[in-house]
Amino acid sequence: MIAVTPLALKALEASAADLAVFAYEDAGLTGVKALANKDKALLSAKLKEEGFKGGSKEIARVELALFGKVRRVFAAGLGKRKGAGSESFRRAAGALLGAVRSKRETLAVLCSENPQAVAEGFALASYKYEEYKKGDEDKLTAVYLAIQDGGSRLAIEKACAKAALNAEAVFLSRDLVNRAPSDKTPHSLAELASSLEGSGVTVEVIDSVKAAELGMGALLGVGRGSAHPPVMVHMVFKPKAKTKKRVALVGKGITFDSGGLSLKPAASMEDMKCDMAGAASVLAVFKVIAKLQPKAEVHGIFAAAFNMPGPDAYKPGDVLKAMNGKTIEVWNTDAEGRLVLADALCLAAKQEPQMILNMATLTGAVVVALGSKVAGLMGNDRRVVASVMAAGKRADEAYCELPLVEDYKEHIKGNIAELLNISKVRGEAGSIIGGLFLENFVNDIPWAHLDIAGTAFSGGDYNSYSPKGATGAPVRTLLEWLGAL
Ligand code: BES
Ligand code: MN
Ligand code: ZN
Repeated sequence: MIAVTPLALKALEASAADLAVFAYEDAGLTGVKALANKDKALLSAKLKEEGFKGGSKEIARVELALFGKVRRVFAAGLGKRKGAGSESFRRAAGALLGAVRSKRETLAVLCSENPQAVAEGFALASYKYEEYKKGDEDKLTAVYLAIQDGGSRLAIEKACAKAALNAEAVFLSRDLVNRAPSDKTPHSLAELASSLEGSGVTVEVIDSVKAAELGMGALLGVGRGSAHPPVMVHMVFKPKAKTKKRVALVGKGITFDSGGLSLKPAASMEDMKCDMAGAASVLAVFKVIAKLQPKAEVHGIFAAAFNMPGPDAYKPGDVLKAMNGKTIEVWNTDAEGRLVLADALCLAAKQEPQMILNMATLTGAVVVALGSKVAGLMGNDRRVVASVMAAGKRADEAYCELPLVEDYKEHIKGNIAELLNISKVRGEAGSIIGGLFLENFVNDIPWAHLDIAGTAFSGGDYNSYSPKGATGAPVRTLLEWLGAL
């Protein structure tokens, strides 16, 4: 990860760093207090000569004598001022990193607004997935945020630290989601969780024997088709100061979703290593939770299993019993996420938290409805839904609420068991049906469900700070949410 740190103007003068500035399409340079008016005018003129307009994704390079020597100055466009916000700065910073990483050694950035988003853009964009092959070596070793007149070193330091913490968590999530499915067995995810034990975090691994004793028939059913047994992982963070606040984060951890006997077509299966992104987000949060120090006890639970059509695989027509005793008729083994989550949510509810959030790549339908930039959000409680929506706004990860329509509950009433795992009414409200199913396992505790099937993984470049593959969503939302408890 590229290090982003504050730099005093005196130190900038002594360094050979290249410079970077931001500009709006309709309002020109912004956050460049440290520049004298004549230098501002000169820089603007030179950029104009280069044809730079300040549109989003736009980058230009000029040369100018500034802070004691002739320097390369990179300008990044923010787009129109109206509607621009922290995300514009994050993306512009990501674009800057792309322009300099293979060429320059150090870059000093002049900015006054949104220092955290700027630092985050640089840090997040520096991600490379290198578990199987090394990428090109970066020349860039450091990015500095210049401390301009009126700016405080402490404020910039804090912004940089928060950005680094967020990026550390996002990087873990991306690494796990990008990893080849056979290299991330349920067991190995449990081992990783165990390695996070210490400084306020304890970890319990519930193997399949223990899961059977606890009555986790839904998780065990899904796992039966694989040679690698499923596992339930329960992490707990206790803050230093005693508190009565308690929340639970719950993740879907399907380490590969073949669809099971209701086998997916080959093309739909290609990216199904991403089906543990919910679990990865819980692990990512726990990687940094001691540094974050939220003011609540936090339970992090994930259910991990391969969904495979093995010799003893669960079958359409099978009836599974979840930990809370509810029976589920399986009509389609490809609606497996809600099954493993059923037991994970039961375990979460048993901890008696005041709020439960679950994250899951649950339905293809949410991709149809909202695409790859907006996740589905459902819940049984206005306050919890609103708090996630607000955290998402602060993190610049978008959500759209879908209603848990009472009338549709009828659609998942079973013939020979209490619930169906898919709707009787084919092709309607797939994501809502997923949410309505999950609601049966939270024991009326205030709860929200994030359907991240569209946002967690991207077949092409996602934005300037998230390369192709795992995006790290919804980790930044979760960190914001926990930070505000
Ligand atoms: N893991 C998939 C959902 C998914 C789709 C994730 C696209 C990421 C990208 C989930 O387990 C699934 O297969 N859902 C089915 C549900 C259906 C059988 C009711 C779907 O969406 O088709
Ligand atoms: Mn599936
Ligand atoms: Zn799935």
